[in-house]
This record gives sequence, C-alpha cells and structure tokens, in this order.
Amino acid sequence: MEVVIVASGQDGGELAARLVLAMAADSPDVVLGLATGGSPLPLYQSLRRAVADGADLSAARGFALDEYVGLPPEHPASYHSVIRREVVEPLGLDPDRVQVPDGMADDIPAACAAYEDAIRSAGGVDVQILGIGTDGHIGFNEPSSSLASRTRIKTLTTQTRHDNARFFRSVDEVPRHCITQGLGTIMDAGRLVLLASGVGKAAAVAAAVEGPVSANCPASVIQLHQHATVIVDEPAASCLEHADYYRETYANKPTWQQF
Ligand code: PGA
Repeated sequence: MEVVIVASGQDGGELAARLVLAMAADSPDVVLGLATGGSPLPLYQSLRRAVADGADLSAARGFALDEYVGLPPEHPASYHSVIRREVVEPLGLDPDRVQVPDGMADDIPAACAAYEDAIRSAGGVDVQILGIGTDGHIGFNEPSSSLASRTRIKTLTTQTRHDNARFFRSVDEVPRHCITQGLGTIMDAGRLVLLASGVGKAAAVAAAVEGPVSANCPASVIQLHQHATVIVDEPAASCLEHADYYRETYANKPTWQQF
C-alpha cells in the first residue's frame, strides 16, 4: 500500500486525476469504479479541467459503488443523479457505459447479482475510486461487513445517515438501506485509490491503514490489496503513526515508479 500525504484535498484530486488520465491514455475503454460523496469531488473537478484541455474520456466505462434503496433515480441525492451531474456530464462519459445499482428494483437480490455480472462482463474495474466514512466504511460497507462480501443490500448506520443528511432536507429523509458493491467486489479492482481529507477522517484513515484488518473497520481490507494508493491531506493524516515514513517514501520515489 502506498500512502501519499498532500497539502490539500485539491492536491489529492490532482494526483488521483493524473493516475486516472494515465490509465485512460493507455486504454481508452478503462473501467472506472466511481465513488460519490465529497471526497472524490476534487478528482472529478481535476478531470473536468483535463477534459476541457483536450483529454478524452468518452470511451471510459464506469460503475458506481452504491445507491440508496427506494430513492427514485431523479431525486437530486440519488447516486444516479450525482453520478450524472458530477461525472458523466462534466467528463463527457457515455451515459450508456456508466451503471449505478438499481435501488428501485422489485427484486433487490436479482439486481445485485445483475450488477456483479455487469462488472464481470466489462472485464472488471480497472481503478476503483474510494472515499472513507467516518465509521471506516468504503462503498456503504458498514462495520461488520464481510470482508468477502459481494454487491448486496446493507442497512446504513445512524452515523452514516447523519453524515449524509447534508444532501437531504433532514436526516429523516436519508434512506435506511442501500445497495453497495461488497468488499470482495471492491478488492477485485485492478487498482484502488482512496481519497480522504479533513480531520474528521483522521481516525478512520489510521484504522484503515495501520489498524488490524477487521470487519470493524471495513476499509482496512485494502491492506490486502496489491495495488492500493491512499491519498490524504494533512488533517486526515494527523493520526497516522508512520506519517513521516510515508512522506519520506513519496519524496524519494524512483522516477520509474511515479504514477
Ligand atoms: P464523503 O463520504 O466523501 O462525503 O466524506 C465518504 C463515504 O461516506 O464513503
């Protein structure tokens, strides 16, 4: 695992964008795993600037990490809406090549299995963008999620519903259930890039990066991934025991190993 400590969330977004753009330059039909929430926004903004400057992501494919159950796709806080507004339209992606789990499906288990099939048929996710919840979730895999889990329905914790209440009129409107890619699904991606900023994420980041691998901190499963990059700003890095080592490592990264 590589931990990169950057001055700001903006810098983190730019770094992650360089990585995504390099992958897209190598294979235009790169499969992106798309996170929602505040953490990936600087990345999407950097990509938007790159696209305005001539980068072409129109052949890229995408799979969102999760979606609320029971929220119509046209609701502004649904991840269908968020992905369309923040990713598909500004980055010039083809909407037919970007999927979000169907939180309105009558048969949720069938919709989850279909989502897994779609990811598999696309050849798997090449680079999975991740945020991290204050409770250590990735996707909506809340504490106690099986480290081997696949796409399925989950119940959101009270903490997550409060964290996400800012996207709704009140916490009472935040759905209780979601469909999320599982931890096993996420771990199948070729690369993982986890973005975190702000002191509110510091404890979760430290548990994920330096704590034991445990379902109690679902993000800690990334310690078992061969190619995980964690990009955090200084406040989010403030609980990391080995922060100086990560800084030294990144400052002395061999040129051939750059993103
Ligand atoms: P945030 O959420 O990026 O909005 O902080 C992250 C998450 O809940 O995974």
